[in-house]
Amino acid sequence: SEALRVGIAGLGTVGASVARVLAEKAAELTRQCGRSIAVTAVSARDRNRDRGVDLSGVEWFDDPVALAREAEIDVFVELMGGEDGPAKASVQAALERSCHVVTANKALLSRHGVSLALVAEKNGVLLNYEAAVAGGIPVIKTLREALAGNSVSRVFGILNGTCNYILTRMEAEGISFEECLADAQRLGYAEADPTFDIEGNDTAHKLSILTSLAFGTKISPDDIYLEGISNISQADIRAAAELGFRIKLLGVAQRTESGIEQRVHPTMVPTSSVIAQVHGVTNAVAIESDILGELLLSGPGAGGNATASAVIGDIADIAKSRPGFQHGPVFGRPAKELSAYKKAA
Ligand code: NAP
Ligand code: HSE
Repeated sequence: SEALRVGIAGLGTVGASVARVLAEKAAELTRQCGRSIAVTAVSARDRNRDRGVDLSGVEWFDDPVALAREAEIDVFVELMGGEDGPAKASVQAALERSCHVVTANKALLSRHGVSLALVAEKNGVLLNYEAAVAGGIPVIKTLREALAGNSVSRVFGILNGTCNYILTRMEAEGISFEECLADAQRLGYAEADPTFDIEGNDTAHKLSILTSLAFGTKISPDDIYLEGISNISQADIRAAAELGFRIKLLGVAQRTESGIEQRVHPTMVPTSSVIAQVHGVTNAVAIESDILGELLLSGPGAGGNATASAVIGDIADIAKSRPGFQHGPVFGRPAKELSAYKKAA
């Protein structure tokens, strides 16, 4: 089969990691997808910055919307951020010309996800966004695919790596909020504007997407009760610890008799609970549903590699979604390419 041609708009923490991992894992991805994946076009603001990846032979666009409209690509990958502006304009343009789209942009989806999904459906292409919620944790696939037929009663968890990193280090090392936030920014966990992390907006964006998937509702970020962690002090953390609790920023969505309740706020959780053991940049999502019961997913929630893993999973799904490639029933590879099973001695 012909290579899947990918255009990436945004070469920051996530975009540069995606480009690097696609190059490093080219052989493995070709084996898994039955075709190669080639980055053929990119866009960022600063053409001269070293991104740590070889972009020779890759077409450069100063304007991401022009990339989305004109580049010879099969998939447009939006990794710039922002709920409107070039992110929205470029995703819309790509979908309208029947290009598949992959994005990690929860702010965009929280505001425009439903209308963009309708454009994707009208044009017969995919809009994939696994990386938009909980970094590398495959929670979108879990809700969309693995839990088919289940009725979800509650979904909740730690959805922001920056906040969990700050709260963990404040408790474990006694260092200041400001120092922890600066480290989270340096490590590439925080949003371009970290207010979105610490005031809870990022958690609310993600929760609104989970709510929509879990309960089949329209995305409704403005209906979320919102409180961040910027007022949490060392004294609060110590007082909670003395009572046997730990403070976590949780996003919670649940079905109640009066409708779907959505809230984001710092929560005292018992130190012995599973959610209290989720440390650092790790995220965790709990889903309660009627057929399966309780499910808890946890894993890296932010950062270049964690997020690239989810973005590349979405690109690979598009590479595999073609007639005659039977990836579903044969464990992700064509039957003729499956290796013989060898039992360990
Ligand atoms: P970032 O490091 O700030 O990178 C943003 C990139 O977009 C930069 O390369 C920037 O170009 C480019 N860009 C911004 N405005 C542009 C414009 N008008 N035209 C062309 N390029 C433009 O951000 P990030 O952390 O990689 O995050 C990217 C997206 O992934 C965001 O939606 C974020 O919410 C989401 N996300 C991030 C993480 C994470 O852990 N960082 C995890 C999950 C999801 P320059 O480099 O030239 O400035
Ligand atoms: N800023 C986000 C976080 C990135 O810290 O969780 C992952 O979505």
